[in-house]
Amino acid sequence: MELLADNASLLAWRESAGPAVFVPTMGALHEGHAQLVRRGVALARASRLASAGCVVSIFVNPTQFNDPSDLARYPRTLEADLATCRAAGAAAVYAPSPADIYPPGQDIPVPPLPDVATRPALEDAHRPGHFAGVCQVVLRLFTLVRPAAAVFGEKDWQQLQVITAMTARERLGIEIIPEPTVREPDGLAMSSRNRFLSEHDRERALSLSRALKAAAAELSPAAAETAMRRVLDQAGVDTEYAVVRDAGTLLSVGRDTPASTGSLSPPAYRALIAARVGSVRLIDNAPWPG
Ligand code: PAF
Repeated sequence: MELLADNASLLAWRESAGPAVFVPTMGALHEGHAQLVRRGVALARASRLASAGCVVSIFVNPTQFNDPSDLARYPRTLEADLATCRAAGAAAVYAPSPADIYPPGQDIPVPPLPDVATRPALEDAHRPGHFAGVCQVVLRLFTLVRPAAAVFGEKDWQQLQVITAMTARERLGIEIIPEPTVREPDGLAMSSRNRFLSEHDRERALSLSRALKAAAAELSPAAAETAMRRVLDQAGVDTEYAVVRDAGTLLSVGRDTPASTGSLSPPAYRALIAARVGSVRLIDNAPWPG
């Protein structure tokens, strides 16, 4: 596995190896990321369009943090991350410096936000500016890496929709591949932030996946939202949102929309939660109905 520590090494590698499948990350890698990399490796093997294999980027992007203390405490674990990428079969890791991504004196464009980024009451309402930073860095990374395809986790469901929309609108010709959320055996969605949970808060954090399960059993979005709130309130977490939305547009769905579509197609709705558990902000989501 090659370590590409600056843009010059990335460009040289790209020239010799050809197009890759790309997994962008901010490091602090866990089993969920390892799964993204394994998916990227498998896709590259199966495709004639990605001769270079899978390349992972590790860059803690300052422009997507609306809370400076969140940025300051974001874990930096490069050595362990490299070991994770190697074990998962990555061909290369691109770990640029801030100056590689945001060269001093150069304006790195912030692409216009797709509509799905600013749906009321979701991420943008609680993290203003977050998706502008995500789109800026992902577009910059795409321009530098020029992958054939890129893998993103479904845990950040709204981010996945935003990047899919931006990639289509910018006509980048990059296939966006979603990868299901990896969970701990007790249901907690894997996240780099889980390491900050105290023992007591980790127990309370299970309320997110429990709330999604409770929602899945309900017959209308309104009932599902009430069920999620009940579980989250009982656990005493600070809920930012617990909603059912159209899975693709993230628009609200009718309060009494029936749960069953009666068809074999995947559910068109998604239950989405963000909650603060102690000082840790967690998000989770699942298809609705389950
Ligand atoms: O999902 C993440 O880890 C980040 O938002 C991403 C896509 C790597 C951009 O910094």
